[in-house]
Amino acid sequence: MSRTPEYAAALRTALRRAVGAVDERELTRATEALVARYRSVAPASAPILASRVHVAAYATYRMPATHAALSRVLGEVAARGLRPRSLLDLGGGTGAAAWAAAEAFDTLESVTVLDQVEDALALGRDLVADAPSPILAAATFRQARAGAWPELEADLVTVSYVLSELEERQQDALLVDAMRRGRSVVVVEPGTPDGYARVLRVRSALLAAGWTLLGPCPHAAECPLAQGDWCHFAARVNRSAEHRRLKGAELSYEDEKFSWIAAAAPEVAETLTAEANSGRILRHPLKRKGFVEFQVCRPDGTAGREVVSKKAGERYRRARDAEWGDALP
Ligand SMILES: C[S@@+](CC[C@H](N)C(=O)[O-])C[C@H]1O[C@@H](n2cnc3c(N)ncnc32)[C@H](O)[C@@H]1O
Repeated sequence: MSRTPEYAAALRTALRRAVGAVDERELTRATEALVARYRSVAPASAPILASRVHVAAYATYRMPATHAALSRVLGEVAARGLRPRSLLDLGGGTGAAAWAAAEAFDTLESVTVLDQVEDALALGRDLVADAPSPILAAATFRQARAGAWPELEADLVTVSYVLSELEERQQDALLVDAMRRGRSVVVVEPGTPDGYARVLRVRSALLAAGWTLLGPCPHAAECPLAQGDWCHFAARVNRSAEHRRLKGAELSYEDEKFSWIAAAAPEVAETLTAEANSGRILRHPLKRKGFVEFQVCRPDGTAGREVVSKKAGERYRRARDAEWGDALP
């Protein structure tokens, strides 16, 4: 899946401009507080983005990563043929999903981001002033709380990195709200065992409602990884100099690990083209001399090892290029 770096680069430029005036020491302190908070798995008892500086810190050190994960996920969903004209992003914060959706879907005509934290929405509005797309630049950022979302509808509803901030009962209610308002739903969570567990609950609820999975699962049977493993993927994020300074990091990139699920309501699913379903690559492939070894989730609901050897010709050539998260060639 090839992606243009245009949106990621424009987002970085917008972040540098919008966050540049914030005192660096305050930003570093707020980043440390957020890093500590995100390492804890308990739901927050108070908003995590508690001040403008926390919002600026979140945008600088987390938003490029959540944006990278969402770009990957929404790119996949676009490849399945989803062509949404409207996006509703619940708990959208500074707008990472809006940026990714504007890039993935040239069909978008309207973008609405809802969140409880006005400072996050204000920064989101400021960032899209530099957006490469007029639809994104015209996005609506509106304050609302989970459980009291406005009665809006959209072709696509995104819920990204939000569930971990809610109690289980609120997570379930949020998914019901998303499905009531959306004709397709994408949920992204950190690629940790507990993030995956939340995604798995969402997956069960989507299937129970008769929705069709668009990814990453190549089947609607029980997840074969549910015992002792967790389904997650990685997106490469180039770190800006500011990002490296804030996190005290040396590498010029990081890999954002994420778990995700996407599904469409029956009336949308029947308009999508069926994909050639060969299985999903679950780990970095082992590329050896003369063969490539994959861990895959298979269309028959099992998971295990697949080997593509040089004898497979063209398929082997595609296997050499395949990456973690791609479809098995
Ligand atoms: C980790 S941030 C994710 C932001 C954005 N979706 C992203 O992917 O970068 C979680 C967001 O969920 C919002 N949120 C948490 N609980 C909420 C609630 N009860 N109602 C509305 N928004 C909420 C927070 O304000 C925050 O902006």
